[in-house]
Amino acid sequence: MDPAGPGLAGDPGAFSGPDVTEGDRAMTRGALVARRLVTSAEPPPVRGRGRLRSIERGGVAWDDAGTLVFVGDAGDLPWPATSGSPDEGCIAPGFVDPHTHLPFVGWRADEFEARLGGRTYRDLAGEGGGIARSARLLAAASDDEVVAFCLPIAREMAALGTTALELKTGYGLSVEAELRQARLARTLADAITQTCTVTLLACHAVPPGMTRADWARAACDELIPAAAAEGLADAVDIYVEDIAFDLDDLGRVAAAAAAAGLPLRCHADQLGHSGAAEAGAALGARSADHLNHIGAEGVAALGAGGTAAVLLPASTFLLRATAPPVEDLLDAGGAIAIATDCNPGTSPVCSMPEAIAIGCTLYGIEPASALVAATANAAWVLGLDDRLGRLEVGMRADLVLLEEADVSQVAYRPGHDPVAATFVAGERVGGARTAAGPGGA
Ligand code: NIG
Ligand code: FE
Repeated sequence: MDPAGPGLAGDPGAFSGPDVTEGDRAMTRGALVARRLVTSAEPPPVRGRGRLRSIERGGVAWDDAGTLVFVGDAGDLPWPATSGSPDEGCIAPGFVDPHTHLPFVGWRADEFEARLGGRTYRDLAGEGGGIARSARLLAAASDDEVVAFCLPIAREMAALGTTALELKTGYGLSVEAELRQARLARTLADAITQTCTVTLLACHAVPPGMTRADWARAACDELIPAAAAEGLADAVDIYVEDIAFDLDDLGRVAAAAAAAGLPLRCHADQLGHSGAAEAGAALGARSADHLNHIGAEGVAALGAGGTAAVLLPASTFLLRATAPPVEDLLDAGGAIAIATDCNPGTSPVCSMPEAIAIGCTLYGIEPASALVAATANAAWVLGLDDRLGRLEVGMRADLVLLEEADVSQVAYRPGHDPVAATFVAGERVGGARTAAGPGGA
């Protein structure tokens, strides 16, 4: 099925920030100029270090359907710019966040404090905290409460330049509760401006009172087919870890996902080494995510195969974990994507600029390569790369206006919001400041 289908029909009116005027939301053709325009030099999946195509005094124009009809020199625009200035800023593709755990409800700051006091993520999971706790919070909340909790987060993401994102289940922990979370994800997708895909994280934690094997069987025999039949999922995910599921479960989930016609993703080698990266690659997974403890075989498998490495530097930072061998992955020819991993446990971070900043410093990723990882390759992971993730004629006018022409500023100033304006399908949906120039968007 079309992975973006249900998420594309958002109601921008329900989502606009306080700085957005009625005029900004009208679906009309438009054009934006800036001192520089950047986009991935190659279509995804971009292997190894990504490069940017850069146009000085660049501009884009879009039609009244929000489709790009021009990308090039500002002087050649088909009609006058409606916003931006040719003397400042940088136009870049909107960020695509390819790994989040929205929708969830409630934070777990006390677990963060407990970890600072010496407890580990594993300790807290073993005591009924962690994923099981978020499952209880989700079960106790009404659908309206869950959506109301998530809307401001999605809105903050838009302000920070995220124009498309993944939503996941995994806090249901029963067949019915997982299906409910998937339906909630579709509801949230319809309520927000961004394009969303929904990943069924069928095996995230072993439900209390069940064995690992019994849940894996229920997930494969009941949950995945039911979610696929209802059109609730665009991909299937599994958490492979000593506190969660093993490589045999990965194989079973891969088979169930394939039978349902859904791409496979996996949380791999996050807390310890399991070999899930190479196993996922051998099973044709679309991505292996986290990878803090990936080994040489995993690096070689991701370098040679069609499985992207989704890097989650904010969760590495928050867990004070070992960084994955990103230089090795890039040298091997791996395709990297960057995501926030936005969740209440390991990464209460919803900012792609922050994920990029941490990724560049902690993982040694060059800013240009990070931008490709956060746009073109991220769109490829979600199956949206035919229309999102790059600035090309025919693609959707999902873009950010960065306040500085130099994209390295995004990584250089963690904690600073570098986004002057965010546009989805040519409509301004967020941004910290008013863009300068004609039209004053
Ligand atoms: O990607 N590690 C597994 N899943 C999430 C954390 C979920 C949670 O703690 O609520 C992750 O880090
Ligand atoms: Fe995750």
